[in-house]
Amino acid sequence: MLKLPTKPNSTLINPSPNKTSDDNVPNGQKSVIVKLENVRKTYTNGAVGLRDVSLELYKGDFKFITGHSGSGKSTLLKLLYGAEQATDGDVIVNGFNLNNLKGNNLAMLRRKIGIVFQDYKLVPRRTVSENVAFVLMAQGYTYKEIQRRVQPALKMVGLIHKADCFPEELSGGEQQRTSIARAIVNTPPLVLADEPTGNLDPDNAWQVIKILKKLNSFGVTVLLTTHDEQLVRAANHPVLHLQNGYIV
Ligand SMILES: Nc1ncnc2c1ncn2[C@@H]1O[C@H](COP(=O)(O)OP(=O)(O)OP(=O)(O)O)[C@@H](O)[C@H]1O
Ligand SMILES: [Mg+2]
Repeated sequence: MLKLPTKPNSTLINPSPNKTSDDNVPNGQKSVIVKLENVRKTYTNGAVGLRDVSLELYKGDFKFITGHSGSGKSTLLKLLYGAEQATDGDVIVNGFNLNNLKGNNLAMLRRKIGIVFQDYKLVPRRTVSENVAFVLMAQGYTYKEIQRRVQPALKMVGLIHKADCFPEELSGGEQQRTSIARAIVNTPPLVLADEPTGNLDPDNAWQVIKILKKLNSFGVTVLLTTHDEQLVRAANHPVLHLQNGYIV
């Protein structure tokens, strides 16, 4: 079991993980973190995920993607974290064209992306803190650095008191907050969330949105898919609407 410092570490999640001197181009315009240009995705069985999508996301943006089931929301996110490759067009994340990224380079890019899924994808036989620490262990962080990061990530999602619980001992909302802590523990500048509130009741869904909003206020770019129109209205961020593989 991962032993955490008893006193919360005051080194909170880097409050400005995204704010580097090159964040803003000289004329004051924000820089692009995600760009899709005429992207088409056809799966091997012929199903079309995206037909022709172009979009830009700027550092510090918080955007929703909405659309009916099958409209291509998950496909879009999968292209951004390299789980799928575009059939045509360019997918550029953090300055890298994913068409040309393979092996280690792709792994390096993924480290700069926090991913949150509808079904949490926690490891059942690991505690909350171990689930969060796992990604850092896999990336070769030192034990000390892991300890320094896990506690603030859990604090950010309000789960310090559940650090030693196993996923089955948590509510759905707590499991999702654990998965957010895991996504942000290495302070990525970009968080992609695919229906993160899909399995949650309205209160827990709103807690998740509030955490993502807080992250965004620190400079993290957030792209989030959802079916929940009410949540989108309440959160009050720009919306991209997908329909049948197009942004409309
Ligand atoms: N691995 C795959 N192989 C073949 N077809 C796929 C695959 N993944 C998605 N598709 C197809 O691509 C289209 C878009 O699917 P996608 O999962 O992106 O939709 P979605 O908007 O996320 O839907 P939902 O709201 O149900 O999650 C659908 O027609 C789907 O059947
Ligand atoms: Mg989906």
